[in-house]
Amino acid sequence: MGNRKVLVTGGAGYIGSHTVVELFQAGYTPVILDDFSNSDKKTINRINKILNTEVKFFEGDCGNEDYLEKIFLLEKDISGVIHFAASKAVAESVQNPLKYYDNNVGSMISLLKVMNRSDINCLVFSSSCTVYGNSAEQPVRETSPVLPAESPYGNTKHVCEQIIRDFSFSKESFKALSLRYFNPIGAHPSALIGELPIGTPANLVPYISQTAAGIREELTVFGNDYNTPDGTCVRDYIHVIDLAKAHIRALDYIFQNKSAGYDVINCGTGKGNTVLEVIKTFEKVNNLMVNYSIGTRRPGDVEAIYSNVDKAKDLIGWQSSLTLEDALRDAWKWEQTLQK
Ligand code: WQD
Repeated sequence: MGNRKVLVTGGAGYIGSHTVVELFQAGYTPVILDDFSNSDKKTINRINKILNTEVKFFEGDCGNEDYLEKIFLLEKDISGVIHFAASKAVAESVQNPLKYYDNNVGSMISLLKVMNRSDINCLVFSSSCTVYGNSAEQPVRETSPVLPAESPYGNTKHVCEQIIRDFSFSKESFKALSLRYFNPIGAHPSALIGELPIGTPANLVPYISQTAAGIREELTVFGNDYNTPDGTCVRDYIHVIDLAKAHIRALDYIFQNKSAGYDVINCGTGKGNTVLEVIKTFEKVNNLMVNYSIGTRRPGDVEAIYSNVDKAKDLIGWQSSLTLEDALRDAWKWEQTLQK
C-alpha cells in the first residue's frame, strides 16, 4: 500500500526506528514524532543513512493536542498513525504510576481526539503481552484471559487497548489494531540502529551484551527455581526487524479495508526460550563467554509466556522468520558499535 503517509509517534525509539525503516522500504512515507525523552535525535540521521533519504520528523510530545493538530495540518495527507510513544520501564511505573497514567493514557486520549478531528481513521497501537499476566495457558492466544497487570506500565497498555476499542465502536470508519509484543530483541543488521542503553538495562539481552562488552561485571539470572526445563523463566524473544514488519502488515490490512473495526494480535515467534538458553545461545553465536550467577527471583516476573501465532498469520499474513541466533548476533554487533 505504498506512498501512503503514516505518522510514527515514538519513531526515534527502539521499535519505532526499525519500523520507520521497514515502512519506507515497503513504499510508505513515514513521518516521525518524538520528544526524545527516551531516545536520541542521532537515530534520525542513522535512519536516513540506512534509507539514503531524509525522513521528515517533528520534535514534540504527542500529548500536546495543539502540536498534533499542527502536524496533521502541515502533513495534510497523513492517512494513518502507528503509536509507539510511551514510557515503558516496568519498575519505574511502580515507583511513579501517575507519570505512566498521565503520559501513556493521557497521550493516547489526546492522539485519538486529534485524529478524530482530523478524520484520520487508521491506527496501529504498540501493546504488550504483559496484559496476559501470569497466564496458566501457554502459548497464550489473543482470547486468553487478560489478567490484572503486574505493573502500572502493563495496566496502561490494557487501558489504552480498551480506549481504542471503545472509540472504534463509536466511529464506524475508524479502524485499529493493537499489536501485543512479546520480547523484542536484536538490532538492524547495519548496526546503525538498535536498543539505546539509557541507564542500567532492565531487560535481559541488553544486560547480556553489556556484560559481554565488559560494561557490567556480571549478569544476575533472576531465579532458577521456576517450574521450567532448566528452572529459569521462559519468554518469546522476537527479532525487532520481524516485529517492525508486523506493523507494515497491520497497516496493509487496515488500508485494504479488511478490518472489522478493532482487533488485537499477538506478535511473537511462537517459541519459548529460557534465560539460560538465551545466555548459551548468545555465547555460541558470538563465540564468547558471558559472566553470570544465579540470584533470587525478580518480583513481578511471570514464570513462562510465549505466543500462539495463528491469528497473526491468518488475519494479517505475518509471521516471524528471523531466529534467536540472528537476533543475538545482531544484538552483539550493535553493542560493539556502541563501544566504538
Ligand atoms: C526477561 C527474562 C527476567 C534481566 C519486560 C516488560 C515487557 C517489555 C519487555 C516493554 C525474565 C530475566 C532479566 C536480568 C534476568 N517491556 N532477566 N536478569 O520482563 O519479560 O518483559 O520487558 O515494552 O512489557 O514486561 O523482559 O528482558 O526484563 O526479562 O534474569 O538482568 O530475563 O527475570 O525472566 P520481561 P526482561
